[in-house]
Amino acid sequence: MGKNAIVGQSGGPTSVINASLAGVFESCKSRGADIVYGMCNGVAGLLEERVVDLSPLLTDDLDIELLKRTPSSFLGSCRYKLPDWHTDEAVYKKLFAILEKLDIGCFFYIGGNDSMDTIGKLAEYGECIQSDIRFMGVPKTIDNDLMVTDHTPGYGSAAKYIGVVMKEIIRDATVYGTKYVTVVEIMGRNAGWLTAAAALAKSDDCEGVDMICLPEVPFHVEHFIEKVRVMQEKKPSIVIAVSEGVKLEDGRYVCELADDVHAVDAFGHKALTGTARYLANVVARNLDTKTRCIELSTLQRCAGHLTSRTDITEAYQVGGAAVKAAFEGVTGQMVALKRISNSPYQCTTELHPISEVANLEKKVPLSWMNEDHTQMTEDFLAYARPLIQAELTPLYIAGLPHHIYMKPQK
Ligand code: F6P
Repeated sequence: MGKNAIVGQSGGPTSVINASLAGVFESCKSRGADIVYGMCNGVAGLLEERVVDLSPLLTDDLDIELLKRTPSSFLGSCRYKLPDWHTDEAVYKKLFAILEKLDIGCFFYIGGNDSMDTIGKLAEYGECIQSDIRFMGVPKTIDNDLMVTDHTPGYGSAAKYIGVVMKEIIRDATVYGTKYVTVVEIMGRNAGWLTAAAALAKSDDCEGVDMICLPEVPFHVEHFIEKVRVMQEKKPSIVIAVSEGVKLEDGRYVCELADDVHAVDAFGHKALTGTARYLANVVARNLDTKTRCIELSTLQRCAGHLTSRTDITEAYQVGGAAVKAAFEGVTGQMVALKRISNSPYQCTTELHPISEVANLEKKVPLSWMNEDHTQMTEDFLAYARPLIQAELTPLYIAGLPHHIYMKPQK
């Protein structure tokens, strides 16, 4: 087996994805890897041989602590889809030649369901050419839509951010006591886990959001306006959490009703944006009320100042668990989190074949919503609450959080 290891980050970033990088790096080093390389911009960068030796960049405990507290992907990311190796082998030949040149024994990819497609294909091709490189998936995504894992690293912090800002938005929305509809757009392409996290805002000091719209529930624009009208008869200020991915019965995204441009990535995913703006406009046109749209956009996945310590700890752990497995000879698997108990909250890791995860999406069970699918039930809250617990404060310098940062590599 090669003496070195390589790690990449792929897909949309999270505020704790670097904790997984720290976990992979430290575990590889402690298990005797000579060099731990980082791929710049994932597999796309690896194909251009853009890699860095991580040791001179992460020299001491302070660097590791900073890395854990730095949001977004330290190594840069990509949304790159490998072709089917049965029909297009050239790219695989190139990648394996690069890995051989770097003397790689273990390959780690931190990502979501699309990134697991990459790991699955590489592991399968590696097996076919009898390569002894071990390929391991390390889960991450704010969307929480990966199969087999109880939840994904990245979700807890994004959910905490959403719970916090929804409370703050609700406080602000009630000041005038006049008619006002606030529509807050939350990420999560086809699964509503993050939007559901808006339900966390409700507590003895907060009345909570008035309506939650998930992509799992077909969306009717007229029904939506009518619901808002009825709600406003009792309460002038309404706050609504809507997923960027809400869809009409015919499968079109609601944001496609607006005349905006939606770029499409390598996996065929449309950039979803403009749902809240569209709905706030529709409500303003049909009801006599002030409206406002708030798109949380990337803020919800890079809020390093508002992470969940539980999430950071688990993100680090899954990195370490992937390394342990790879060094023990495992390949073609992803580390998953398995909840052992809720009270006290305890989670462990386990391994699953990549085929159980790649390109699949785990949706929110509708049984975790109320009858008219506008609020989350106590079952969801019991699931989500442990994931947002505790904080890890950034290191503040001159009043601002200090980050560890790598200049883009040529
Ligand atoms: O990685 C998941 C995600 O955060 C989705 O929730 C969102 O739709 C998408 O990424 C946006 O990605 P990009 O950074 O490519 O615009």
